[in-house]
Parts: sequence; C-alpha cells; structure tokens
Amino acid sequence: MKKNIIITGGAGFIGSHVVRRLVNNYPEYHIINVDSLTYAGNLENLKDIEGKSNYEFLKADITDIIAMNTLFESRNIHSVIHLAAESHVDRSITNPLDFVQTNVFGTVILLNAFKAFGDVDNGRFYHVSTDEVYGALGDDGKFLETTPYSPNSPYSASKASSDHFVRAYHETYQLPIVISNCSNNYGSHQFPEKLIPLMIHNIKNNKPLPVYGKGENVRDWLWVNDHASAIDAVFHKGRNGETYNIGGNNEWRNIDLIKKLCEILDIKLNRENGTSEKLITYVNDRKGHDFRYAIDATKIESELGWSPSVNFADGFEKTIDWYLENDEWLNNVTSGNYQSYYKDMYEVR
Ligand code: NAD
Ligand code: TYD
Repeated sequence: MKKNIIITGGAGFIGSHVVRRLVNNYPEYHIINVDSLTYAGNLENLKDIEGKSNYEFLKADITDIIAMNTLFESRNIHSVIHLAAESHVDRSITNPLDFVQTNVFGTVILLNAFKAFGDVDNGRFYHVSTDEVYGALGDDGKFLETTPYSPNSPYSASKASSDHFVRAYHETYQLPIVISNCSNNYGSHQFPEKLIPLMIHNIKNNKPLPVYGKGENVRDWLWVNDHASAIDAVFHKGRNGETYNIGGNNEWRNIDLIKKLCEILDIKLNRENGTSEKLITYVNDRKGHDFRYAIDATKIESELGWSPSVNFADGFEKTIDWYLENDEWLNNVTSGNYQSYYKDMYEVR
C-alpha cells in the first residue's frame, strides 16, 4: 500500500517544485496535490508529471471544511505538507482578510481534519512557513529558531498565526508536527508579482523597473530547488515538534540584485551594456517595509545535513534562462487579471 501524502498549494511556485521532487523520488508515496488554483496556482507548472501513477491533482479549497473532512476521512491520509497560502506581501496590504481566510482559517481546518482522520501515529503535519514571521533585522544579526515572532505585514502576521496554531496543536493534542521558516526563494515558475520574475518580465518588455524606496532593503535569496530539498529533509528527518530555519546565506540589497539582473540581461538580450539599468524607477516605498531578513541555518545544516546545492551565480543564471526560454508561460500568466493587478499596484504609485 502506498502512503497517501497531501501536498497543499502544489500548483504554486514552491509547491510545484516540492510535488515534482516527491513524485519523482518516492514511488512508495501517492501524492495528492490539493490546490484551489487561485491566480497563483497553475497546472502548467506540473505538466511533466501529470500522467504519473503516484500523482493526483484535486482542485479543492482548504477553507472548505466539508471538502477537507471528506478528503481526509475517505483517503487514509498519512501526512500533510502544507504550502497553500496567499503569499504576496503587497496583496496582503490591500486585502488582509484574504490572508486570514486562507492562511489562518485554512490551516486550522487542515489541522482539524488531520487530527480527526489522519494517521497521527505514524505520519506528520508539516507547515511550510516564512522567515518574515520574525520581523525585520537591522544591519546585523540573523534569525534563529529561537528569535521571538514579530510580524510586521498582514502576510507575515497570518503566517505567524498559522505557525502558532500548528505548534499549539502539538502541545494541546500531541499532533505530530514540524515547521520550517525559509527566506526568499527564486527560481522557475514564480508568479511575476514577486521581485525577480517581475523585473525580468519588465526588462524583456522595456518597461520601468519599480524599486521600492531607496532599494536598500536586504533579502536572503535561496534557489527554490534547494528549498524543496530542505523540505524533503525536514519532512523525513526533522524532529517532531521542532522548527527549522532555511536560508541561502546569500544576502542582496534589492538595488544591487536588480542591477545584476540588468547586467546579465543586457548580455543575453544583446543590448548595449547599461541599457536595461536605465529602466530603474524609484517608487513610493511599501508600507511597513521590513528592512532586512537573514537566516542562521546552522540547525538544519548540522542536524539534518542539508545545505544549498548551487551557488547564487549558477542558480540565478538558470532562473533567468528559464524565463527567457518560457515566453509562453510568462505571457499566459501576465495576460488577463495580471494587467489590472499591475495597474492598481504600480500605475499611481
Ligand atoms: P504561491 O502564491 O506561488 O502559491 C500558493 C499556492 O496555494 C497556489 O497554487 C494557490 O492556488 C494555492 N492556494 C491559495 N489559496 C488556496 C486555498 N484557499 N485552497 C487551496 N489552495 C490555495 O506561493 P509560494 O511562493 O509557492 O509559497 C508557498 C508557501 O511557502 C507559502 O505557504 C508561503 O508562505 C511559503 N514561503 C514562500 C516563500 C517565497 O519566497 N515565495 C518563502 C518562504 C515561505
Ligand atoms: P517580494 O518579492 O515581494 O518578497 P518579500 O516582500 O516577501 O520579501 O519583494 C522582495 C523585495 O523587493 C522587497 O524588499 C520588496 C522589493 N520589491 C521592489 O522593490 N519592487 C517590486 O516591484 C517588488 C515586487 C518588490
């Protein structure tokens, strides 16, 4: 009998990489990808594994109590890897309630369903979370697993809240759980509302590159496939009830990252050096913009033997090439609703 593993949000950016990895590497699992296909979910991301016998897609909303309870009751669910979420900070500033609904309410619905019907003796509930729950750093220091939570955006507040519920279900009901908090991911299949694919798309189309504030905010970037390998390690080897921080040890000021992107794309698009940089446009800062994120990943490295597999230069180049080679994917996701999102977010900024 294969073990039934639910991955929520498997049609999104990180989720699709996690689904692909588990379907390909663990034939003893039957992976059920539960995703409601919001604007961020895209089955094109999983075309290559669509027909695999140990993979199934279920279009369902994690906030639908009846659908979730029916799924867990009928399918003998061994474990859950929970990634489904509203994930974009700027959208959370406009619509905080959507984030409460999916990230908090949805997580508690899944916890209840797993507690009532899941294999709580042998399986586990894994919540995939973000380093943004720890708040903002100044020039020095890094987030540790013991850093107190101090979320600043509605997005990070909703993720912090869901982390707390997951922990509370462990303490209160002894639910087997594990949590990881990861830094910013980059890679293929990321929706172009996030910094890197948005900038690549705009450079390609000679559109302004909207840099928030002075561009001095710092993020720690990790290749999405390395996040997927970390999730694999935490899911299989992480200790029950524990939290693991995941990061790339790869800090960039936004403006430096954007200039690097311009430099590489000038070469790849046969433009004169300095052409794309001219598109940089400073715009009003994001409200409550966290200054710096940085992760101390010693715990996952020493306990679980995980470390990133690629250096940033290689991962970045692979990522840029993917967006250049997948015009159709980028065009599909930037038509329709993206146009009005972009207009609302950037036109009068
Ligand atoms: P994403 O926005 O690309 O994908 C989210 C997925 O969840 C989409 O497929 C969407 O359709 C699905 N979804 C949303 N609401 C749903 C609902 N109510 N029911 C079912 N499915 C629903 O997000 P991502 O960047 O891949 O992030 C995945 C997870 O990793 C999130 O929990 C996020 O908080 C976390 N995370 C992201 C990053 C990052 O850099 N992107 C870093 C650390 C942690
Ligand atoms: P983002 O990709 O939204 O990730 P997060 O806010 O979760 O870290 O943004 C990364 C950084 O880039 C963040 O400091 C905000 C900044 N940013 C811009 O300057 N311009 C943009 O158009 C976007 C989307 C982000």
